[in-house]
Amino acid sequence: VYPTVTIPVVVHIVLKNPSLVTDEQVQSQIDALNRDYSASASDISSVPNAWKPRIGDAQIQFCLAQRTPDDNPTNGIERVTTTRTSFSVSNSASAVKHVASGGADAWNSSNYLNIWVCSLSDNYLGIATFPDGYPANEQGVVITYTGFGTTGSAVAPFNMGRTTVHEVGHYFSLRHIWGDESACAVDDGIDDTPLQGTYTYNCPRFPLTDACSVDSPGIMFNNFMDYSDDACMLLFTSDQVDRMRLTLSEDRASLLS
Ligand code: ARG
Ligand code: ZN
Ligand code: CA
Repeated sequence: VYPTVTIPVVVHIVLKNPSLVTDEQVQSQIDALNRDYSASASDISSVPNAWKPRIGDAQIQFCLAQRTPDDNPTNGIERVTTTRTSFSVSNSASAVKHVASGGADAWNSSNYLNIWVCSLSDNYLGIATFPDGYPANEQGVVITYTGFGTTGSAVAPFNMGRTTVHEVGHYFSLRHIWGDESACAVDDGIDDTPLQGTYTYNCPRFPLTDACSVDSPGIMFNNFMDYSDDACMLLFTSDQVDRMRLTLSEDRASLLS
């Protein structure tokens, strides 16, 4: 059991009409993060019995920032009117992260989880940075406005806030459950998630097996790090939680100070 930690969040809404995403919609996303990062969603009861013993409780909470980097009061929400119709995910959607390219600059990523909400091109739902490999001023997650929060501009089947849950999983070092490679030998580096050949779309019926997990209970398509619909993404495992909490105690420890 981990102590509860709380991460300050800034949400940058970068749209032609940024008022489309209301404060209420932003709060609905924070609530969804708090729900799934404390294993307390009402639909966690839908986790198949075979996986229930593996459910992990991250005990990570998120709150909108109350102070700006300059120590002024804030509600943790910044709206930027952009002329750009959409942003590409190349370089983890770096364009949305800079005023000079029609986006919004990060707040010091050592102290805040930066979430950019914009229109992503090519039907992308979200994109994240791992702790390594990206500059500090591009660290954070980018979420398309139709997959953000649980109300307002969020559209089914991605209107349960779980795209952000998934992307923040990457931000805390988690890989996709299938290891981003179809070879069964390549996995996510997590012991208590089954081997899986590729991503899962939609919402299949349990159990589902594949060439990498040939016997029931098969693959864990209910995991937040698969690509299933929001209504079917239900759990992080204990070992995934350990991985995230390790990242929080090392690479991302400054978020807690
Ligand atoms: N990185 C994934 C993508 O956009 C996000 C998948 C989120 N899935 C979901 N059911 N919300 O390609
Ligand atoms: Zn992903
Ligand atoms: Ca695994």
